[in-house]
Amino acid sequence: MRPEALAEESGTDTQWHEPAWIEVRDLRYTVGDKQVLKGVTLGVPPGEILCVMGMSGCGKTTLLHCIGGLTEASSGEIRIGGSQIVGMKESELNTVRERMGMVFQYAALFDSLSVFENVAFGLRRRRRLPIDEIKKMVAEKLALVGMPGTEQLFPSQLSGGMAKRVGLARAIALSPEILLYDEPTSGLDPVIASVVDELIMQMRDTLGVTSIVVSHNITSIFRISDKIAMLHEGQVLATGTPEQIQNCDNPIVRQFIEGKSQGPIEVARR
Ligand SMILES: Nc1ncnc2c1ncn2[C@@H]1O[C@H](COP(=O)(O)OP(=O)(O)OP(=O)(O)O)[C@@H](O)[C@H]1O
Ligand SMILES: [Mg+2]
Repeated sequence: MRPEALAEESGTDTQWHEPAWIEVRDLRYTVGDKQVLKGVTLGVPPGEILCVMGMSGCGKTTLLHCIGGLTEASSGEIRIGGSQIVGMKESELNTVRERMGMVFQYAALFDSLSVFENVAFGLRRRRRLPIDEIKKMVAEKLALVGMPGTEQLFPSQLSGGMAKRVGLARAIALSPEILLYDEPTSGLDPVIASVVDELIMQMRDTLGVTSIVVSHNITSIFRISDKIAMLHEGQVLATGTPEQIQNCDNPIVRQFIEGKSQGPIEVARR
C-alpha cells in the first residue's frame, strides 16, 4: 500500500511532514553467514499498534532495531513517514530517529546517571527547555509509568521491572510520533504489565502515536493490537487483525498462540 493510501485510510491529516506511517519491504539482514531477516514486508498506518510475535531468536529485536535506525539492514526498504532509511546518510537519519522513541528489551539505562538524568537525557539534548520545565516533564512521565518520586535513585537501586519502566518513561519523554517497544511487559508483575498496556493504548488514543510492540505476552497482544504479525525464522508468516490471527489455521501460528509444546515448531531439547 502506498503512503497516500495509508494516510487516507487512517484519516490522519498531513501537516508539516508526512504522517508517521511505517512501511517495511523485503527487508534482509545478514550477519556473518546467518540470515536473520529474510525478506520481511509489513506496514503500520499512522496511529495504529502492530504487535510482532514469534519464537525466541526469530529476529524480532533485529527488526525493531533496523526500523529504529540502530542497525543497518543489508537490503530492502524501510520507510518512516515517506523517508527511506536503508542506506540513508547519518545526518539525515538523525532527523528521522528524532521522530521515534525506543523501549529496549533490556532497559539500557545509563548506570552512572540517576533516574531523573536518564529520563531527562533526550529532553536536555534535543530541546532547550528551562530546568523547571524539564523537572515537571520528568515527574509527569515517571508518574505515568507508576514510579512517581524516584528521580534521585540510580539504576543499581532499581528492580528489573522498575528499570524497564524508567526506560519506558525515557522513550515517551519526547512525545515521539512513533514508539518501538521491545517486550515492554516482560518481567513486570501482572498489575504493572496491565498499566503499561494501558499506557501504550493511551499513547495511541490521545497522541495518535504509531507503534510496533514486540511481545511474548499473548493476552496483552490480543488486548492492545490493531494488527498482529507473526515472525518466524526471519519472515512474516501471518498478519491480520487480532480476530483474523485468532482464527488463523496456520499450524505454526496455532501452536504459538495456544502455547503447545507439541506441533510443527521444533524446539531443540537437551
Ligand atoms: N550482531 C549479531 N551477531 C550475530 N548474531 C546476531 C546478531 N544480531 C542478531 N543475531 C542473531 O539473530 C537471531 C535473531 O536475534 P534477535 O535478537 O533479533 O531475536 P528475537 O526474536 O528478538 O529473540 P528473543 O525473543 O529471544 O528476544 C539470533 O539467532 C541472534 O543470535
Ligand atoms: Mg528480542
